[in-house]
Amino acid sequence: MTTEITVNGQVHAVDLPPDVPLLWVLRDALGLTGTKYGCGVGACGACTVHLDGQAVRSCQIALADVGGPITTIEGIGTPEALAPIQQAWVTHQVAQCGYCQSGQIMQAASLLAETPDPDDAAIDAAMGGNLCRCGTYPRIRAAIHEAARLMKKA
Ligand code: FES
Ligand code: FES
Repeated sequence: MTTEITVNGQVHAVDLPPDVPLLWVLRDALGLTGTKYGCGVGACGACTVHLDGQAVRSCQIALADVGGPITTIEGIGTPEALAPIQQAWVTHQVAQCGYCQSGQIMQAASLLAETPDPDDAAIDAAMGGNLCRCGTYPRIRAAIHEAARLMKKA
């Protein structure tokens, strides 16, 4: 069965069963491997993407239930023109192994879209479901504050 989905502004016709998780559509069918598999049960946040601008766990959404435009980490910025949030991540050297970081950035971008200048409590509340085995949480928090400053200036 063919399903049309829009990812990072491009329409794709995907020939996969309707119950395939969006995570595998992105990674295996579309080659967008920036979105990571961590747990597969909605408990780690590594697979976070935006659906209609909201952060969602792509391992928990079936292809048939997508129902809106998707943005992945590949749609946030480019190496030549980093988005403010990516610039902030670089400035604070947030990543350690990096595995969780695309999910962290997508979750943080969604927070900043709703709350342009979040305090530490708001950051911790929004980011609490995104796990990092390397413990980069203090740098994630600092980078979100930095991204908020950069976005204010832009
Ligand atoms: S892989 Fe989706 S939440 Fe962990
Ligand atoms: S940077 Fe290694 S799991 Fe987060």
